Amino acid sequence: MLDLSPKPGDLDPIETASRDELAALQLERLQWTLRHAYDNVGFYRTSFDRHGVHPDDCRTLADLARFPFTAKNDLRDNYPFGMFAVPTERVARIHASSGTTGQATVVGYTSRDIDTWAEVVARSIRASGGRAGDKVHVAYGYGLFTGGLGAHYGAEKLGCTVIPVSGGMTERQVTLIQDFRPDIIMVTPSYMLALLDEFDRRGIDATKTSLKVGVFGAEPWTDVMRHEIEARLDMHAVDIYGLSEVMGPGIANECVETKDGLHIWEDHFYPEIVDPLGDAVQSDGQAGELVFTTLTKEAMPVIRYRTRDLTRLLPGTARTMRRMEKITGRSDDMIILRGVNLFPTQVEELILRTPGLAPHFQLVLSRPARLDEMTVRVEARPADFTAQRREELSAQLTRVIKQNIGVSSTVDVVEPGTLERSLGKAQRIRDLRPKD
Ligand code: DLL
Repeated sequence: MLDLSPKPGDLDPIETASRDELAALQLERLQWTLRHAYDNVGFYRTSFDRHGVHPDDCRTLADLARFPFTAKNDLRDNYPFGMFAVPTERVARIHASSGTTGQATVVGYTSRDIDTWAEVVARSIRASGGRAGDKVHVAYGYGLFTGGLGAHYGAEKLGCTVIPVSGGMTERQVTLIQDFRPDIIMVTPSYMLALLDEFDRRGIDATKTSLKVGVFGAEPWTDVMRHEIEARLDMHAVDIYGLSEVMGPGIANECVETKDGLHIWEDHFYPEIVDPLGDAVQSDGQAGELVFTTLTKEAMPVIRYRTRDLTRLLPGTARTMRRMEKITGRSDDMIILRGVNLFPTQVEELILRTPGLAPHFQLVLSRPARLDEMTVRVEARPADFTAQRREELSAQLTRVIKQNIGVSSTVDVVEPGTLERSLGKAQRIRDLRPKD
């Protein structure tokens, strides 16, 4: 793989600023944000007043902990535009979550916010090894989802040539990669696997494509998945994180030269880790729920937004800004099986460590009698799809799941190509348990 480390002068000065300089900027921006939210959003005014805090109470960064949290329900309750801090005439763009699990959540951006967003995505692509002049194939969905347009504006801002393919039409994606010869692809890791299937189906050697880097996010994925993708495409696979409520993609990104967790662009997004079941702020290094406060957003500032994503904060390495560890999962996706907590990423890791199993899997939860059961449906690699190998693989994965996670499960090794492929975010859990 190519060495894509940054050269002197490639980075923005803020990316290498000292922690003190960064903290001074954060405090100034935090104070502005708290005032802006309190003065212009009824929800924040009421919630701060109820908690007996006022923006003037924020004199240090640690004072943020005195302010109340914001949850997804607060955004839903204020549907559609109740969280906006500017008149709608100043809102240049609206995005929204799909709302498949309830009322959609709506987010808005002023034209300056769109510009800030493009800047952090440009920074993310550069951290991934991209430079002006590179061709970027964007296969994140375009539309109300923030993935496509977020990636698009960032790649343009960096000076790249953008190929706005969006998600879906898998055969055509592969044709375009072959014909347009992009340097970078931005896509969910699970959809990258579907594209790899298509390369294989056509007998194309995917290691020979023009791609140098994949910027993968929008769903949890593991280091073993990184190795799988890097080996099959002979390119770097780098993690990008974000959520629409806070901005979209580009809140944090790995650096290609280290790939040791995602640097949070802390000059725009202030992170905290809190106890997922309570309110206590954890110190850096401790695992918990990621919480963000925006520092520069005009149209829709968010204060202490609970992401439900689980990770840890770590000190900076390739940049001065802090890192977050790769996300283990969302607290909502945690499976509790006979008292044991587990995340789909843990199963992904064990599957990919089992030679003969492919990275396509689904966890089916059922309750045939009184207790919950989990069936892991996983595809065999084509060469391993024989009756004997299926049985061996099933026994092997059942054993390592029991040893490593501590739960009994049933493993159903299925034919290559039978599990539904995602066009965007993979749906890893199928819950067939009766709703109580
Ligand atoms: O998924 C924004 C995005 C688009 C990020 C493209 C990266 C690339 P939402 O649809 O609001 O926004 O979903 C946000 O997706 O809270 C996480 O649970 C999950 N997520 C996003 N990026 C990652 C990642 C976009 N790199 C939710 N690793 C978040 C793990 C991720 N989970």
